Amino acid sequence: MDSDFITEVERAFGDSRDDALMQRAGEIIKKGGLVAIPTETVYGLAGNALDPESSKRIYAAKGRPSDNPLIVHIAEFDALGPIVREIPEKARLLAEKYWPGPLTMIFKKSDRVPKETTGGLDTVAVRMPVNKTALSFIKAAGGYIAAPSANSSGRPSCTTAAHVYEDLCGKIPLIIDGGDVGIGLESTIVDMTGDVPVLLRPGYISHSQLEEVLGTVLIDPNVNGAELGGDIRPKAPGMKYKHYAPRGELYIVKGGEQACTDRINSECRIHKERGETAAVICLNTEVEKYTADVVSSLGNTYEDAAHNLFRCLREMDEKKIEYMYIRAFDGEGLGMALMNRIVRAAGHKFIEV
Ligand code: TXA
Ligand code: MG
Repeated sequence: MDSDFITEVERAFGDSRDDALMQRAGEIIKKGGLVAIPTETVYGLAGNALDPESSKRIYAAKGRPSDNPLIVHIAEFDALGPIVREIPEKARLLAEKYWPGPLTMIFKKSDRVPKETTGGLDTVAVRMPVNKTALSFIKAAGGYIAAPSANSSGRPSCTTAAHVYEDLCGKIPLIIDGGDVGIGLESTIVDMTGDVPVLLRPGYISHSQLEEVLGTVLIDPNVNGAELGGDIRPKAPGMKYKHYAPRGELYIVKGGEQACTDRINSECRIHKERGETAAVICLNTEVEKYTADVVSSLGNTYEDAAHNLFRCLREMDEKKIEYMYIRAFDGEGLGMALMNRIVRAAGHKFIEV
């Protein structure tokens, strides 16, 4: 049944011109249906977070395992109280500084949030986005929206409405097109349920920005990815799955600059000799160094790279690239967030030189 929709794409402007559209989208949600929406991080696939049937439909449309919990999106701070058991003082401070914005906090959940939404957990992830269209949509839809990234499970997240259409056409009735997203990587996730906050997923808001407000913030060992497959059980269950993956094979090359360049060029030469397609993904400043037939630039800065990474991975599929090489990113901030995504996109394949 869920694959039987004619999917409409409607442009939003982020102002009062959208009123009729928001009302229509809100009605779909209130009846248990799904709508894809823009946020400042990536596009989300929205349903009513307080309705177990809506959450089941989200899992079905994405093809996502149902033990992977959803983020509840709210439009005002007062909406937080009813869905959590307590609001720790530190969470209040962080919300004051970074909500609305690309920050998700984990709380102990109240009974109002069904287990279907939290993947069976007693905790709930909550975020207040800053995107105007997202905020008016959440209000029109009753105030509590479950929204995972709007990609099919396993694929790169969607940074344009066209990406959502590619993945979910026929599976949902409506995509709200808010243009290209601003940030391009999903929100930073911090677990606020223990004595010391724990960073579970790095994003635009960095570890040091969190520590400025909170004091010590631990970093979950799974954040850096290399440990996956070991004994460590990821605290953000979504982090255990292969993610963001292009169809070809992506390798992360680690080491000194010249050694990396030489190795990537030689790998690409070998692929070419074998008649295989290969590409390098890199920053603009590095494009000239590579001799591969396809060298795809992520832009000049880490901010550009965050904005362009998922689009670039999708383009690799369009170009039918079989092998991709990217140098490891470093640094905390966006470097850590980018590295976290490419480690998963690469299925943890590293080449150390
Ligand atoms: O920027 C974002 O956060 C986007 C936009 C649409 O808001 N949403 C997003 O949702 O990235 P999703 O479902 O693709 O990723 C949610 C992540 C998953 O890794 C999931 O395991 C984790 O949040 N998560 C959700 N609830 C959790 C909980 N109670 N405890 C720990 N991790 C949780
Ligand atoms: Mg996702």
